[in-house]
Amino acid sequence: MPDEPDTVAAVDWEALQHEALAAIEAAATLAVLDELRVQYLGRKSALKLALREVRDRETGMALNAAREAIEAAVDMRQRELERAELDRTIREDKVDVTLPGRLRPRGHLHLTTQVRREVEDIFLGMGYEVVDGREVETTHYLFDALNMAPNHVTRSPLHTFYVGGDTVLRSETSPSQIHTMEAKQPPVYIVSLGRCYRRDTPDATHYPIFHQVEGLAIDRGITLADLKGTLRTLLRQLFGADREAKFVTHFFPFTEPSLEVLVSCFQCEGAGCSMCRHSGWIEIGGSGMVDPNVLRFVGYDPEEVSGFAFGWGLERMAILRHGLPDIRDLWADDLRFLEQF
Ligand code: DAH
Repeated sequence: MPDEPDTVAAVDWEALQHEALAAIEAAATLAVLDELRVQYLGRKSALKLALREVRDRETGMALNAAREAIEAAVDMRQRELERAELDRTIREDKVDVTLPGRLRPRGHLHLTTQVRREVEDIFLGMGYEVVDGREVETTHYLFDALNMAPNHVTRSPLHTFYVGGDTVLRSETSPSQIHTMEAKQPPVYIVSLGRCYRRDTPDATHYPIFHQVEGLAIDRGITLADLKGTLRTLLRQLFGADREAKFVTHFFPFTEPSLEVLVSCFQCEGAGCSMCRHSGWIEIGGSGMVDPNVLRFVGYDPEEVSGFAFGWGLERMAILRHGLPDIRDLWADDLRFLEQF
């Protein structure tokens, strides 16, 4: 037997293979297996070094057989561990598609916006058009064109916000009537909804910002009966069929005659309570037949056409419908309140 270098002769290869196979089979993780691969088959492993130096064929074959056995064991163990790893992932990361989904909180429209859209829908259903207005107005559109006397009280800076000169924040949506009639010829059937501003101190029924719906119908032969029929329809759709409506005379500079609309009290059904100040009726808004002066201002002929108009507060509608105690809640941005509607 030719002389073998020391490294080859010094090792009991059978024992080494035995030890390697046992260790590989016991490897619990891929990382451990990788270390064993380096240890027994790596470039600096005893086996690889020996294979490089071996001269005698028989020993060479034995060492190669050992190498192949160890390689096969590593490959097999690797497949086992990979399969186990895959099984574990499938078991632990599985998605049960039959479980109910996680519900995310979902927002909804503000109560005032809900009422606004409802009113728009009611009038769209009656063939009206919804038109935009202007929140910043001139005293011409807010007062003069609406037939307000030069000394009318709402012209005072104590009531209306003046932005500068004759520029004002509108205190009502009525100027939308004028803009509409200036822009088109009769027939006119429009509603215009939006914010208004008044120098009011906030309390349970007042807030310096609020919303109104303005309505205007101008055509040949429009009468007070059309006004009443239209507004009764609005009331029934908003508040239900049982709600009684009553029209009482009033004064507005831009209508003649003018009518205040009242609805039977939501709380006491007419018997009298604190909500209706013991009258059984609650004011919902103003209305009237458009004053011939206003028609003339915009170049309409009051001998040819007539019409009615109305202006109601949206917050008031929301409050009445839900029996809310305080209008300020609608401006407080408090989710605990808003989420109820
Ligand atoms: N502009 C009135 C107000 O804010 C409401 C109103 C009354 C509007 C009668 C109208 C109307 O169009 O005809 O108090």
